[in-house]
Amino acid sequence: MSPVTSPYAIRIVGDPVLRQKTPEMTDIDGKMHDLVQGMFEAMYAAPGIGLAAPQVGVKERFFVYDLGDDRGGQQVLINPVITGSDGEWTYEEGCLSVPGQYFEITRPKEIEVTGRDLDDNEVSFEADELLARLVQHELDHLDGVLLLDHLDDDQAKAAKKHVRELQMRKANEAADLEALRSPSLRTEAPKKRFFGLGAK
Ligand code: NI
Repeated sequence: MSPVTSPYAIRIVGDPVLRQKTPEMTDIDGKMHDLVQGMFEAMYAAPGIGLAAPQVGVKERFFVYDLGDDRGGQQVLINPVITGSDGEWTYEEGCLSVPGQYFEITRPKEIEVTGRDLDDNEVSFEADELLARLVQHELDHLDGVLLLDHLDDDQAKAAKKHVRELQMRKANEAADLEALRSPSLRTEAPKKRFFGLGAK
């Protein structure tokens, strides 16, 4: 499946949708089903363990995650709120919207969370370590916050440069492939395309 044609292509840092705060969801119904399934597919294909709606360009306040069958399998959390937190935990954190990079980030180790499930029932639970980290990371996405915002300026700059280089490499590979497929264009230099990443 080409990420260019998938309706659930994962948005990369620089895409403005990743910087918008999502409003609280008021109508939670069966219409979310296809979107949620599409997000799970995109998340598994990436592969990742959590994905927030803005990461597929959807301005809705929920995220999906799956830490494995022994930890409940597929989960959807809508309108999440952290109601308490305790301790500190440093963990090497990654993000599908900042591909290929991991950063040691310290956040609370344990949290209490409330929210709603797909049937619009209230859920509340305590989370520790990896699940606590995942919820905090995904909730950040719903507020337009990326893990880059938890880094110092130099680290964040280096991370964005790395993503830009990755994007350009991909675009150039695609342009070269196109030139090979169009013999009539061979007399001209292959057209290079660059993704414009919004400057912060
Ligand atoms: Ni992320």
